[in-house]
Amino acid sequence: MDKIKNLYDKLKAISQEHVLKYYDELKEEERQLLLNQLSRIDFDLLRQCNILLKKSDGSGHYIPGTLEPMKVVTLPKTESEKKEYEKAFNIGEKLISEGKVGSILVAGGQGTRLGFDGPKGTFPVGPITDRSLFQYHTEKILAREKKLNAAIPFYIMTSELNYLQTKDFFKQHRYFKKEKDSFVFFAQGMLPALSAEGKMYLSDKFKISVAPDGHGGLLRALFVNRLLDDMQKRGVEYLYYFQVDSPLANVCDPAFIGYHVLKNAEMSAKTVYKRGPYESLGNIGKVNGKNVVIEYSELTRKEMEERNPDGRLRFGQGSIGIHVFSVNFFRRLHDKKQDLPYHIAHKRIPYIDAAGNLVQPVEPNGYKFEQFIFDAFPFAKKIMVFETDRKKDFSPIKNKDGFDSPQTARQDLCNQFGNWLGKAGFHVKRDSNGNVLDKIEISPLFALDEKEFHNRKPKPNGNKDGYLFE
Ligand code: UD1
Repeated sequence: MDKIKNLYDKLKAISQEHVLKYYDELKEEERQLLLNQLSRIDFDLLRQCNILLKKSDGSGHYIPGTLEPMKVVTLPKTESEKKEYEKAFNIGEKLISEGKVGSILVAGGQGTRLGFDGPKGTFPVGPITDRSLFQYHTEKILAREKKLNAAIPFYIMTSELNYLQTKDFFKQHRYFKKEKDSFVFFAQGMLPALSAEGKMYLSDKFKISVAPDGHGGLLRALFVNRLLDDMQKRGVEYLYYFQVDSPLANVCDPAFIGYHVLKNAEMSAKTVYKRGPYESLGNIGKVNGKNVVIEYSELTRKEMEERNPDGRLRFGQGSIGIHVFSVNFFRRLHDKKQDLPYHIAHKRIPYIDAAGNLVQPVEPNGYKFEQFIFDAFPFAKKIMVFETDRKKDFSPIKNKDGFDSPQTARQDLCNQFGNWLGKAGFHVKRDSNGNVLDKIEISPLFALDEKEFHNRKPKPNGNKDGYLFE
């Protein structure tokens, strides 16, 4: 009883004692769940979030100066650019073959916009076989391992909410034939949501409402789980970081890794040229001489629409959430105990009201706190920004329908594969916009790119379902 009294006093001192309101009526196991959750909350961090909330206007906007564009390694056009690209590609492949490259996937998001029940990586996207996003990513890494006779560890960050489901999915699918021991699953931290008055919410009488701490939570999760030691043991010096949602993602792209090293960067970012001024992608630039990524929502309309004399958008390079990190950079951040800033998002937070009923708010009623990995940019001594071809790297599944949806991702896969088939002499049907009408699916284990596909001398195998190459 003393223990509860002490806890109550501790919570009262920070005006959070309301989370024990139903304690007396809880069953023993519910009490334990609540106490366990409370024991894992970092109250110092909670206090900092509260200070941040009081200081901010709640919008999370914070550009502290004028945004300037950055130098970008653009898609190679001239002969010398093509030569340099090839050089970078070869360097990247050599590093992979030496076992110095690991891959790291952030898959802890809640995928709210897609409205899919389950980890987003389990979403079926293969145009014919319903291959999941996780399968695409894993097979791409496995294909590179096979091609270069290398081992590429696969670090997968989930949240506490989808950790078990994610691990089970890989187990059920026998890790898609990739060596089981090359996987490291770990969960990012969770943070309580707060009301405008800075109070925690209960999502059940015995549960505090918490949410994942953003993909920037990776930093803390790497440190807490001692993963830098694991990387050292495996000889990993560079990490290919990517997001879960694009089946086109050119995972462990050797050229990107090679340029990172050629340019002596500690952190690098991949970009695409935006579809138009308003595409919702992060923008890479400099503010007061510091390298930053600024969310699209923070640009002014003028900044979005500004053009260079050649007609291209001044802030045309959009971040696609793919990076290369030098492991030593993470080590330095660890040694300096460097934390990343928190961003505030105004959200709808279901909660238990004073009468003990669950309320589903229709308007945002509270705040979630998230860290973004790209806020590590200003701490890197040198960075490199690398433009990629959207058609070969980026078609994310974010929304249920419309732009960036399962339908557009499947179409983009068919378009990419259609180009490979076309070059290999197949007849591919297209509509008037050039979109491929056939269903086509090529396993990364069959071919990773057009050249590999061609070299496999594929035989026509079309049937009523389309073309499938496994
Ligand atoms: C993100 C970027 C945006 C970029 C775009 C490209 C942010 C704030 N913005 O937008 O700059 O142009 O991708 O597609 O990131 N995740 C976690 N844990 C979390 C939250 C997210 O692991 O707590 C993972 C997700 O599973 C996903 C990735 O991070 O793999 C990106 O999250 P998402 O919410 O999809 O980012 P966007 O807002 O779409």
